[in-house]
Amino acid sequence: MVVIEHLQKYFGENRVLDDVNLTLNDGEILSIIGMSGIGKSVLLKIIIGLIEPDGGRIYLDDLDITDLGESEFNERVRSQISMVFQQGALWDSLTVQENIELALAVRHNLSKPERDSLVHESLELVGLRDAEKLYPEELSGGMIKRASIARAIAARPKYLFYDEPTTGLDPVLANMVNDLIITLHRELHTTSLIVSHDIEHLQRFSQRVALLHGGRIEHICEAAEMWNQNNRLFNSFIRGELDILYENKT
Ligand SMILES: Nc1ncnc2c1ncn2[C@@H]1O[C@H](COP(=O)(O)OP(=O)(O)O)[C@@H](O)[C@H]1O
Ligand SMILES: [Mg+2]
Repeated sequence: MVVIEHLQKYFGENRVLDDVNLTLNDGEILSIIGMSGIGKSVLLKIIIGLIEPDGGRIYLDDLDITDLGESEFNERVRSQISMVFQQGALWDSLTVQENIELALAVRHNLSKPERDSLVHESLELVGLRDAEKLYPEELSGGMIKRASIARAIAARPKYLFYDEPTTGLDPVLANMVNDLIITLHRELHTTSLIVSHDIEHLQRFSQRVALLHGGRIEHICEAAEMWNQNNRLFNSFIRGELDILYENKT
């Protein structure tokens, strides 16, 4: 479980996160939605330790990880949380296999055969058999996406975060990625936070949906109930009626 309390992040005058409170329950997929530039990526990056917050606390399974030092953070957090970044971010000079092996650095106690089998199983899970020896430039867009997801799951993290996994993909690829998210959740029992603009399909792959707005979680609900909410901002956002959102932008 990840518990976020009163999280704050400012960049100069830009109050990006003002008072974010959010709990990610074990085993669930929670989608975060919100306007571009509202702070969704910043929120994910704070949790995985890439950005330092200015206030508030973050707990990972009852451990307060807010002020952990680098080595303790690596050991106790980085080994458990993995993120699929928006740009695949594979190393061009490394093969698919080598790219995925890099992600296993957080699991230093593994033997070579154990590493190899995690790499193979991960590729298998994302439907990318026989691509180990290929370089990123030899892969199609869909294969790059699959490879970057394989890398994220290689160390078998308890938590798997996705930042806009389908943004910029054609509808066929977007569907493939959404299906993959569901498959991985079922096979690996990961707990996930997903920043997604794929409003129409949120119910397929998430249990809950939270709208980030004005530096706070403006609204959170069951995905199955998302079209029957009484929060005006939330309703406008999911229906693409942007005027009221811009009126209310803080
Ligand atoms: N490292 C940074 N330095 C300064 N400002 C940043 C930094 N990262 C993000 N921001 C600002 O924080 C705001 C939220 O960004 P982001 O979380 O990327 O938005 P989004 O919701 O689209 O993911 C934006 O105004 C962005 O310019
Ligand atoms: Mg973003």
